[in-house]
Amino acid sequence: MLEVENLDLHYGQSRILYEVSFQAPKGQITTLIGNNGVGKTSTLKAIAGRHPASAGTITVDGTLVRLTTAFQAANAGIAYVPQGREVFPMMTVEENLETGFACLPKTDHHIPDHIYDLFPVLRDMKARRGGDLSGGQQ
Ligand SMILES: Nc1ncnc2c1ncn2[C@@H]1O[C@H](COP(=O)(O)OP(=O)(O)OP(=O)(O)O)[C@@H](O)[C@H]1O
Ligand SMILES: [Mg+2]
Repeated sequence: MLEVENLDLHYGQSRILYEVSFQAPKGQITTLIGNNGVGKTSTLKAIAGRHPASAGTITVDGTLVRLTTAFQAANAGIAYVPQGREVFPMMTVEENLETGFACLPKTDHHIPDHIYDLFPVLRDMKARRGGDLSGGQQ
């Protein structure tokens, strides 16, 4: 499903990833384990298009992807759940959910009911600012 080959990543002059390669097969859960600061989040950021890789390839279902924006990643079938909460604190719950529209055609710009069925509290708190939710609600 996902194949990463020889991935390099830099922050400025600092090289963080050195030729990282792995596969994540369909139908299985693949776990990346390592000490703090070894580059797990950086690897995921490169896959999700959140930080550019300096070298290497990322293949999803046999298609080479080179992502530079979050909506390109979404279109390629990649969802990234960040380590932090990363909600937009000054925007409402509804507006936070609407940020996901960027990768969809205009006709699909509505929040599906099943989102609120999964997290009913969000339905009641649609108009509340993201930053005013509890940690778990965020
Ligand atoms: N934005 C950044 N700018 C500069 N260096 C960074 C940046 N983000 C992370 N780093 C550095 O890159 C290295 C890898 O960080 P990364 O966040 O990928 O580690 P991690 O494996 O996810 O760690 P943890 O288990 O603590 O979450 C660390 O040395 C970190 O200090
Ligand atoms: Mg991390």
